[in-house]
This record gives sequence, C-alpha cells and structure tokens, in this order.
Amino acid sequence: MDSRAFRMDWPAGTRLFEVDTAEPLGFKASVLRQERAVARCERITVPVDLREDWPGALAAAGHDPAQPTVWIAEGLLIYLPEDAVQSLLERVGALSATGSRMGLTLGTRGVVERFRGDAAAGSAASMWVSEMPADPVGWLDGLGWET
Ligand SMILES: C[S@@+](CC[C@H](N)C(=O)[O-])C[C@H]1O[C@@H](n2cnc3c(N)ncnc32)[C@H](O)[C@@H]1O
Repeated sequence: MDSRAFRMDWPAGTRLFEVDTAEPLGFKASVLRQERAVARCERITVPVDLREDWPGALAAAGHDPAQPTVWIAEGLLIYLPEDAVQSLLERVGALSATGSRMGLTLGTRGVVERFRGDAAAGSAASMWVSEMPADPVGWLDGLGWET
C-alpha cells in the first residue's frame, strides 16, 4: 500500500483518487486513522473493482476527464486477467485529456520465479494472473500513448 497522498508535496489544487476494492481501502483507512495521517492534497477514495464499471464510480467521485490526469498503476496489472488489463487501459485512454501521463509496472512471471525458494515471492507468484504484453511499446502506442 502506498501513501503518496500523505508523503509527497503536491501542487496546490491536486485531486488524488485512489481506486481499489473496498476491503484494502477500509484496512488502509484504519491504519491511517491510527497513525493520524493527514493527506497533503485532496484525497478521494473510490471503492470499486477494476473489472467492473470503475469509470462510472470515478466520475461519481468527481474525476474530470476534460482535465489532464496522471494515472499510476503500480503493482496492479499482474493481478488482472489479460482481457481486464486491455479493457482497463482502453477506458483509461478514453478518460485521458491531451497532456495526460501514465506510469505502469509491467512484469513477467520469471521475475518472481527466480526467487522461488523465498516465501514472500512464492506467495506473490501464486496471485499472479497475467503476463505483460510481448511488445509493451507497440501495445501502448496502439492504445494512443506516446511511450
Ligand atoms: C501490490 S498492490 C499495489 C498497491 C498500489 N500500488 C498502491 O500504491 O496502493 C495491488 C493492489 O491491487 C488491488 N487490486 C487487485 N485486483 C483488483 C481489482 N480487480 N480491482 C481493484 N483493485 C484491485 C489490490 O487490492 C491491491 O491494493
């Protein structure tokens, strides 16, 4: 779990949407309360499954697709099936005004398999659902991003 909203200096007026399923967001909220953490920007949590209608939930939470957005999908895509990854990225593209940016982590199973003996890596490997596309640059170009 990242705490970017709490640990970084944000330009005035930044609105940060954290999209995740309800359970981890609830757990995170309890830890943040315990730590009396104070967000350093406007932070809005959006509990939704990214395989469902998350654009609707994001819009209802106040995201404005007419403004450029910075998207961060860090340590996320490997947990989604390939069709859900494709749909996620297509929907992100549709909600990205000119000037938007995106950061992704893309991984291959080989990365964790190298650490097969390690318990934590073994547990991560067991949750691994999809592989990154063979040609990530071509894939992102096809989705309208300049890599
Ligand atoms: C390794 S963590 C990455 C956390 C993230 N980088 C952050 O800064 O908080 C993977 C996250 O993906 C979320 N996730 C996995 N599948 C999801 C789905 N179908 N819909 C929404 N979130 C999902 C998990 O709940 C978890 O919080």
